[in-house]
Amino acid sequence: MINRKDLVAKFQELHGREPRLFRAPGRVNLIGEHTDYNGGFVLPMAIDKETAVAAAARKDRIIRVHSINLEDSGEFDLDAETEREKGSWLNYVEGMARLLERAEFKLTGADLLIWSDVPGGAGLSSSAALEMSIGLALSEISGHAVDRTTLALIGQQAEHEFAGAKVGIMDQFVSANAQAGHALLLDCRSLEFENVPLSTEDVAVVICNTNVKHELASSEYNTRRAECEEGVKILGKFLPGVKQLRDVSIEEFERYQNELPDVIRRRCRHVITENERTLKAAEALRRNDLTELGRLMWLSHASLRDDYEVSCKELDLLVEIAGKQPSILGARMTGGGFGGSTVNLVERENLLEVIENISLEYKRQTNIEATILVSDAGGGASEITV
Ligand code: GLA
Repeated sequence: MINRKDLVAKFQELHGREPRLFRAPGRVNLIGEHTDYNGGFVLPMAIDKETAVAAAARKDRIIRVHSINLEDSGEFDLDAETEREKGSWLNYVEGMARLLERAEFKLTGADLLIWSDVPGGAGLSSSAALEMSIGLALSEISGHAVDRTTLALIGQQAEHEFAGAKVGIMDQFVSANAQAGHALLLDCRSLEFENVPLSTEDVAVVICNTNVKHELASSEYNTRRAECEEGVKILGKFLPGVKQLRDVSIEEFERYQNELPDVIRRRCRHVITENERTLKAAEALRRNDLTELGRLMWLSHASLRDDYEVSCKELDLLVEIAGKQPSILGARMTGGGFGGSTVNLVERENLLEVIENISLEYKRQTNIEATILVSDAGGGASEITV
């Protein structure tokens, strides 16, 4: 946990007044990968790492922001345009501010101080945590109660327009809406969701960060989206009414799969089978059958590796090492892929031994230190007091 008291004290020292305090978590996705932008299902949970924002209104329309972790500051005027380089973290802050205003939530200027312990580049949605905490802070200090789903949609739009990443809705949605002690089953088309209890008493959720991030990540992400759309176009000729891969059943896919070029066929197969695995996983979780959830996670990884081709050798290695640990019920890559983290279900009884085994073996084979964290299912974005 970050030290929220220090954050407030630092704000007081810098600005000489009392801030309000907001936070939003990162997430790990248990299953349902690359299904969100296909209108399908996802089953993520919020982790207990967060971005916290101390915020106070200003009398003008200037937003001034400082990040303690990044030791970087920026400011912009809500009434003037800004030229900003792509890739800067400030784009997320500005994106949230501009898009809240576009959605008719008029903002006051603000002084913002940010502190985060969500690791960046780890596939744990540090950017969604930033967007949701900033969005909540800016809207609340301006006197607007923006509902969490709207906030998530604005965050997704900020990624599209201000960061150039055509992401789906999963990360922002779970960061905004998660409930502690629960995973969140989301229908990414209707945005209906269910909080499914996730007890981590006997089985821990363990996140292993490869500590690699391959360059391919964002270009390949957009390519996968296009490949899925291509699949919809072809399958739609045979299956009128199909608007997204979400609409194609496994039986229908099997009937028409030979109409698809090989790569498109495999991309579609991943998405269509992953949707089914996700629904089955939610069912398993409802009856607290973590063995079945684990089984589905192994299958998900194989599908992401072989059919969707978004894994990498480091992720595959972590999953392979996990496969040799009898106390691990399931493991898979999580998030967009090409680096980042795996998510593992590990029996608590042997937790320390398993963590040690994974660390040693990964280090031995790659010469890279993995970062391993154990997380309960946390709550979504909220205002907090210290
Ligand atoms: C990234 C995106 C999400 C989702 C995942 C893959 O995390 O932000 O919208 O598409 O990749 O499941």
